[in-house]
Amino acid sequence: MVRRRALAGIPGNHDGYGELMPDARTVAWDTGKGLLELIEDLGAERIAAFFCEPVIGAGGVYPPPAGYLDEVRRICREHNILFVADEVITGFGRIGGDWFASTKFGLEPDMVTTAKGLTSGYVPMGAVFIAPRVAEPFFEPAGGVWWRHGYTYGGHAGAAAAAMANLDIIEQEDLLAAAARLETSLHQKLAVLADHPAVEEVRSGTGAVAAIQLVDASAALGLAKTLRKHGIATRAVGAGGIQISPAFIITDEQLDELVAGITAALG
Ligand SMILES: Cc1ncc(COP(=O)(O)O)c(C=O)c1O
Repeated sequence: MVRRRALAGIPGNHDGYGELMPDARTVAWDTGKGLLELIEDLGAERIAAFFCEPVIGAGGVYPPPAGYLDEVRRICREHNILFVADEVITGFGRIGGDWFASTKFGLEPDMVTTAKGLTSGYVPMGAVFIAPRVAEPFFEPAGGVWWRHGYTYGGHAGAAAAAMANLDIIEQEDLLAAAARLETSLHQKLAVLADHPAVEEVRSGTGAVAAIQLVDASAALGLAKTLRKHGIATRAVGAGGIQISPAFIITDEQLDELVAGITAALG
């Protein structure tokens, strides 16, 4: 189904605002069919870019079905549509075993948006990586006139220093490998929760991130609050999901505590 919403298509971020970006469309997240139909409907020349979150995060933590990312990447290439990987969540290790989902899955995007893991949140900073075919016209424009733009705090030296220190720690403490182990251990440890009567499903297995989907979607906000009393910091995501996004250095014993805390809070 094609919906007319701003980029991410998350209802709670859109309802009440009217149309934010009237020409944004969202397509099915689990098959390339929706993207192909949209291209046929609109014409590839009218599509500026396809934005894709390799693992959907705030929308509920949905790992990509096997083959999906390859398929949409190929479709964009064939139709000369820019492929933008939104790696605000998946970037800088969260995808497990690699710096980025783009490298893990060989996506070669035209642009990559990043933020959270860049500084591990200690200082606010985001960054966009831009492939030459997109960047060059801005810096080597026909006619020699730059298309200039900037932000007051863009590339702030203090934030950049924090990012560099954070990236050093990720390298020195081999945290990409730690996140890869977590990808498996989190998946295995959380699996037991799928049998709980209040849980519809557990989504995990791609990256060091997971969601517990509740049968009663309206209970998620309350559960997120209750979980704090059990020492678990989390949030409600998507339609009735609880996001689990642990530190890469979490131990197996702490994962057991996490599962025990969630079980107690569900009770
Ligand atoms: C995947 C993803 N993309 C984009 C954003 C928005 O990022 P920013 O607030 O840096 O614009 C978020 C925020 O949580 C996100 O999770």
